[in-house]
Amino acid sequence: MTTHAAPPLAQDVLTVTGLGVSVGDRSLVDNLDLTIRPGERVGLIGESGSGKSLTALALMGLLPEGLAATGSVRVADVHHDIVGADENQLSRVRGNDIAMVFQEPMTALNPTMRVGAQVAEAMLIHGTRPTRRAAMSAAVDLLEQVGLPDPPGTARSYPHQLSGGQRQRVVVALALANDPALLICDEPTTALDVTVQALVLDLIVRGVIDRGAAMLFITHDLAVVATVCERVLVMYGGRIVEAGPVQQVFTRPRHRYTQGLLAASDLSVVDDRGRLATVPGTVPAAGQFPAGCVFRNRCGHATDVCASTPAWTGQDASDGFACHHPAPASEVGHG
Ligand SMILES: Nc1ncnc2c1ncn2[C@@H]1O[C@H](COP(=O)(O)OP(=O)(O)O)[C@@H](O)[C@H]1O
Ligand code: SF4
Ligand SMILES: [Mg+2]
Repeated sequence: MTTHAAPPLAQDVLTVTGLGVSVGDRSLVDNLDLTIRPGERVGLIGESGSGKSLTALALMGLLPEGLAATGSVRVADVHHDIVGADENQLSRVRGNDIAMVFQEPMTALNPTMRVGAQVAEAMLIHGTRPTRRAAMSAAVDLLEQVGLPDPPGTARSYPHQLSGGQRQRVVVALALANDPALLICDEPTTALDVTVQALVLDLIVRGVIDRGAAMLFITHDLAVVATVCERVLVMYGGRIVEAGPVQQVFTRPRHRYTQGLLAASDLSVVDDRGRLATVPGTVPAAGQFPAGCVFRNRCGHATDVCASTPAWTGQDASDGFACHHPAPASEVGHG
């Protein structure tokens, strides 16, 4: 008898189920589901204070003291859950299977160590190069790949001898050193001089694509998501309020928060009266969001029913929204 087994589906690089982050009894991230397939680029957007950075830190097992994660974060080929893993287990995953680029390069760099040695060290720790000599040589190659001038000379520099843009290039080299299956970027160019932002962004995207890595890209720059990502998640008040293919979410947003965000973005700078648009009101502090729909106190479409939590409508966590009075599916543009 011959069997024609279907080829195995490529395993998801990241599977997140019911992720929560809390401090005491205060919930900061609530019930987040997310899967990322190999090579996929997913955007995570939302105003400042929405819970994006805490989500990224929870995925890396890097939450600050006092914050607790619940739920499950599974990384492909890693046989334990990130949530609840010990520091030993986590340090094997970090930088190897999953790496992160933070907003501020010095968060990731050791100020007392030459940058070439830092990149080489990352490879040696994870055993991806056999000897210190091989790792140093690979580090210099990598510094060249990320566009740093005079790679052997730069390798001998300390972080403080480099510009902010150069430091972030070193951080990108560090993050890519062991060919991670997933790169998480949290506003990776926001702290840089505007003249180098596009260059560093391009470098990150090229590094990810060349390696076939997947990416979770956190930003408030929707235009960047539109060019870089295939899918997008919209976060507000620690919850994913809408998700879907970028083209769909950006041209036919259903959730009223997504609509507001788009109206306020670079993609549509002025409203119908020619004014610069913003989402009305301000993001509440953690724990101050209304019960029910977290966007209720800022939403022009809110009614009494919005005091109850809207259910997720859609085929799965990667495509849908949670709003009692969504924009009609056919409506194009931003209300
Ligand atoms: N260590 C912490 N302790 C208590 N609250 C925190 C801590 N870190 C962040 N928060 C709060 O959690 C919320 C989400 O923060 P964050 O994830 O940084 O948002 P974003 O990255 O979307 O701007 C904010 O209200 C923030 O003040
Ligand atoms: S559920 Fe209600 S309050 Fe929330 S976004 Fe939708 S219409 Fe607005
Ligand atoms: Mg943040």
